[in-house]
Amino acid sequence: AQGSSLAGLDVVISAGGTREPLDPVRYLGNRSSGKQGYALATVAAARGAQVTLVSSASLPTPAGVRLVAVETARDLEAAMSEAARTADVVVMAAAVADFRPATYAEAKIKKTQAAPGEAEPEDAPVVELVRNPDILAGLVRERDSRRERSGEPGPLIVGFAAETGDAEGDVLHHARAKLARKGCDLLVANEVGVGVTFGQDDTTVHVLGPGGTLLAQAGPTTKAAASAAVLDAVEDALRDRP
Ligand code: C5P
Repeated sequence: AQGSSLAGLDVVISAGGTREPLDPVRYLGNRSSGKQGYALATVAAARGAQVTLVSSASLPTPAGVRLVAVETARDLEAAMSEAARTADVVVMAAAVADFRPATYAEAKIKKTQAAPGEAEPEDAPVVELVRNPDILAGLVRERDSRRERSGEPGPLIVGFAAETGDAEGDVLHHARAKLARKGCDLLVANEVGVGVTFGQDDTTVHVLGPGGTLLAQAGPTTKAAASAAVLDAVEDALRDRP
């Protein structure tokens, strides 16, 4: 059954790739454009949801959507944790950096200059990385402990999985394992690779539900159409909740 609406629901969506600064002019980033998260925000708002978009992307904010601008994974974690407290639906479409530089240099990291008449030095700095938190898994844990205390169901939580695989079976296999590991309610798997999905306008999505059941598939199609399929599955899951 489809076609009910998200009208009046509080929907929080993360979008874009985080940027992890090394010094005032450099960062570690990734190829996520934010287009999928923005498309989800646009479609959710058109269905009447109150949408908060927590974003590190530089795209125009969709009409009627509240934007919370973030840069790093830790900014994103704080903003999502706050927004999730009152949310009905949380969608983690952001490409979160798994690692960040262990230290931030307050001043620009400089090349060492050779003395006049000497050869340029060949040494280069080594960047040590530390792990970022798994934000999605943390949101599920926070929701579940609030649920236990208050008896309120808390938000339906949706994760994304950018998977590379030679065959569709691989993509679903990896995505099912990820769904179980993260503990989210729905997981949207999409195929990525050079020139596929990241930064592109078209995508292919597979929506997995409890126990890894394949609930919906869409694509190759626009990110708007893929968003509609994802939000249909969200509406169905909300309706089927105990
Ligand atoms: O583990 P993987 O990065 O493939 O999982 C993807 C999902 O987990 C996405 O929903 C992404 O937004 C989320 N994620 C996260 N925190 C991380 C890494 C990924 O919330 N540090």
